Amino acid sequence: MTTDHLQDAIDRYPWYHTLDLGNGAVTRGMFDHRGQEDRYGMPADLGGKRCLDVGTMDGFWAFAMERRGAASVTAVDLEDPEALDWPASLRHRIRKTMDETKGERFELARRALGSSVDRRLCSVYDLDSAELGTFDFVFCSDMLVHLKDPMTAVERLRGVCTGTAVVVNPVKEQFPFRRRPLAQFDGVDEFEWWVPNRAALVRMLEAAGFADVRCGPEFALPAVAGGPWKGRRRWVRGQV
Ligand SMILES: C[S@@+](CC[C@H](N)C(=O)[O-])C[C@H]1O[C@@H](n2cnc3c(N)ncnc32)[C@H](O)[C@@H]1O
Repeated sequence: MTTDHLQDAIDRYPWYHTLDLGNGAVTRGMFDHRGQEDRYGMPADLGGKRCLDVGTMDGFWAFAMERRGAASVTAVDLEDPEALDWPASLRHRIRKTMDETKGERFELARRALGSSVDRRLCSVYDLDSAELGTFDFVFCSDMLVHLKDPMTAVERLRGVCTGTAVVVNPVKEQFPFRRRPLAQFDGVDEFEWWVPNRAALVRMLEAAGFADVRCGPEFALPAVAGGPWKGRRRWVRGQV
């Protein structure tokens, strides 16, 4: 595909991730993680590792793992927008354009990058080592906040992980109870269910059976023009 054709193909879609697809072709994402990668707790060297990206969307983090030397990368997502855990208040109200074409966008990016990431349709709730195998490194970013049952999801991450897992999630400190594990509940106004504080995010991984759980510093993504939300996030990392 020529660069002009690629840019035309890119411009047919709304993009979640800003992806540099080579030769000046760049997607105009809702988020731009370029230059922010080091804040996400992902090891710089994934040489020889079997990696899993959960909730991959356009694939930014799956492609990043490939660049970091992963032996293989599997990326999972849900195709049907109706299968997501929408709050009742938003399920029939919100336009789901971004969720309807993520498979096509991922495939366009994968081909342009010459990537061999293996994208599978699978809910995090259904991750099963008998189906997908196990992974040395599991990454799951900005997804738990969109789940009604984030704890079951973390247990499923643990079930397919044989090494390290990194979860990145919005956090909100509930002052003055900083040390207590707490979460703020929405489920009505935003597509957000639970926003934990730091202590709760750590405890979630511990409760799922991860050991040596560490948390990274809080950070915000720089604003993208027209972008929706720039809440504060943290990574949390656990070992098996
Ligand atoms: C907000 S996007 C985050 C994309 C990417 N992980 C990142 O951090 O930039 C949430 C992603 O999680 C996916 N997702 C939501 N619920 C899911 C579920 N139950 N199982 C698998 N993926 C899910 C969505 O389809 C979407 O791709």
